[in-house]
Formats: sequence, structure tokens, C-alpha cells
Amino acid sequence: MHYLITGHTGFKGSWLALWLNSLGHVVSGISLDPITNSLFDRANISECLQNDFRIDIRNSDEVKTAVLQINPDVVFHLAAQPLVRESYVDPRYTFETNVMGTLSLLEAVSSAKSVKAHVVATTDKVYRNINQVAGYVESDPLGGHDPYSSSKAMADLLTQSWISSFPGTPTTIVRAGNVIGGGDVSKDRLMPDLISAYLNQEVPTLRYPNSVRPWQHVLDCLNGYLMISESLMSGKEHAMMNIGPDEESFVTVAKVAELVASQLSVDSNWNLSESSEPHEAGLLSLDSSLAKTALGWHDKLKFTDAVTWTTDWFKKVEQNESSRDITIQQIEKFINL
Ligand SMILES: NC(=O)c1ccc[n+]([C@@H]2O[C@H](COP(=O)([O-])OP(=O)(O)OC[C@H]3O[C@@H](n4cnc5c(N)ncnc54)[C@H](O)[C@@H]3O)[C@@H](O)[C@H]2O)c1
Repeated sequence: MHYLITGHTGFKGSWLALWLNSLGHVVSGISLDPITNSLFDRANISECLQNDFRIDIRNSDEVKTAVLQINPDVVFHLAAQPLVRESYVDPRYTFETNVMGTLSLLEAVSSAKSVKAHVVATTDKVYRNINQVAGYVESDPLGGHDPYSSSKAMADLLTQSWISSFPGTPTTIVRAGNVIGGGDVSKDRLMPDLISAYLNQEVPTLRYPNSVRPWQHVLDCLNGYLMISESLMSGKEHAMMNIGPDEESFVTVAKVAELVASQLSVDSNWNLSESSEPHEAGLLSLDSSLAKTALGWHDKLKFTDAVTWTTDWFKKVEQNESSRDITIQQIEKFINL
């Protein structure tokens, strides 16, 4: 099978490319260049790709030409500007990439007759956040306070419209929560910030220590994406699906900091940010009952395991083990769970 991943130079895309490659599939990618110190570069992922296109997904003509050349069986559309704080800095780029970039993919995939499954990643942040304790279900209304959430809600609605207006390619929108795992070096994300600070004997600064997030290991999220693609290829239809962890993984930012510090054997100190911070959602939880019943998916790694696998990954890299070997070992261990 030939898999196309947009966003293959990013955090999730790198894990997914290595996973698919280790299963013997052909993998191609469309993305921008990787960021400094990325997992993509450290694990030398370009070496396992059939095509490694560096194309801005806002350029619909280039995207279409590349997709037709790749002729993939399955497409995972992950490319996005995925950072909430960055979306306040550059809202135009965020909306253009996340909305019009998604349109580029939908158009290109529709014209590539080879595609048997298209999985479009949005996020848990697409739901109109009313700080409810119960998890959001797929039929809940969409919203989005900040530009990132709003742009993803727009991409979600766009894809819903595409599925009903231009049926042909089996397509599912996937809404997942905060993922963690080795190799994420994105700025302003909690886990990379915590690990970098604690490993450098610094005290991290937390913006919203009491915010609750559904923490999920990247492999559980990607396992959901893969199971959805298999289900689409077997002829099942799912317009949209939540992939989030169980309730015990809905944990405050402060609790995550405490656990990371204890696993890295340092004091769990942190400072509260004193600068005025842009709005971020307070409580976010997902109800993933549909994925459980329709796919038999469930998260294999509970909260503590997810954090342990993440800190282990970074500790091993600190001890000069190969990023690629550690990533593949964790993929194999996960498959055998
Ligand atoms: N990481 C999370 O916690 C999380 C949670 C929910 C949803 N998501 C979604 O999952 C997807 C992947 O997230 P990630 O954490 O791997 O992000 P990431 O920032 O690590 O990777 C983003 C990828 O998108 C590519 N990209 C960005 N702008 C582009 C453009 N204009 N043209 C072409 N490529 C472009 C980058 O080159 C990179 O490969 C995103 O759609 C994101 O919104 C992530």
C-alpha cells in the first residue's frame, strides 16, 4: 500500500511515517521543511520515503500535481499550523493553511482516483467550548475562540461539506486531543517545555496550571488514525470520529509537571506565568465511545504510561541512543501490547 502523509516532517507525521515504513508500506509526504532539532531530521525519516515533497499546501496547483504523481492508496492530511499561541501571532497564515490548505487536499484527493481512504485531522478544539464536564460527542456544535480552534472548526465544516457534496473518496474527520511523545520539540507545547527545562536544571513556567487536558500518547492517536483508514477501506463510513483517552487521562497541567519532574528525578518546581496570556480553553474532554464501538479502538497507554514512554524517550536520547531506534522500539512495543 502507498500512504501519503501531509505534515510528514512534523511530530505526528514523523511517527506515522516510521510506523508505516516499519510495516513494509510505501510512504510519501507533502510538507514544509522540518523545524530545528525535529524528530524528522534526527531519525533520518527522509531516507524511508518514496517522495519527500516540500510544498506549501496553500498552493493548490502544486498539491494536485504532487498527489497525482504519488498516486496514493491512503491519505492522512495532518499538515497544519497547529499552535494556539502562534495563531494569535499570525492569524492569516493559520486560517490560510488550515482552511484553504485543507481545501487543496480535498480537491487533489478527489481528482486522484487511486485514493481508497482519506483521514483528515482536526482537533478536540473544534467543539464550541462550554466548559462542560462530560466529553464532547461528534454531534455537538462546533465553535472556536482562538484563531487556531476556529480555523480547525472551519476545516472540519469544510470537510463535512465536501463529504456530502462530492462523495467518492471515503473520508473521515478525526478529532483528537493533546498528544505527547518523544521527539516533540514544538514551541509553547507543555511537554517539550517541561522536559527541556527539567533536563537543563531550569524551572519551567506554566501558563494555565489548572487547565485540564485529555493527555494521549501519540501512538494511541495514530493507532486510531490507522484503524479509521482500515475501516474506510473495508467499506464502512464514518464522517467524523473522536479519538481521545479515557477519563483518568483528563489531568491538570500542574499534575503533568509533577509527574514529569518525578520521572526525571528533579524537584517539581514551576513558576506561574506573570505575563498576560491569550485565551486558551480551560476544560476540554472528548467522548470516544463511537471509536470504541465502531472500530474496537481504545487507548492502550494510560496517563502515567504515556508520560513514562515520553520521558523515557528523551532520557535515552540524552544518553546518546539513536532517536530512530528508540522510536521504532516504542512502535514495536506498542504493537505488541
Ligand atoms: N499535537 C497535538 O497535540 C495535536 C492535537 C490535536 C490535533 N492535532 C493536529 O494534528 C496534526 C499534526 O500535528 P503535529 O503535532 O504533528 O504538528 P507539527 O507542527 O509537528 O507538524 C505540522 C506539519 O504541518 C506542516 N505544515 C505546516 N504548515 C504547512 C503549509 N502551509 N504547507 C505544507 N505543510 C505545512 C509542517 O511542515 C509539519 O510537517 C495537525 O493537523 C494538528 O492540528 C495535533
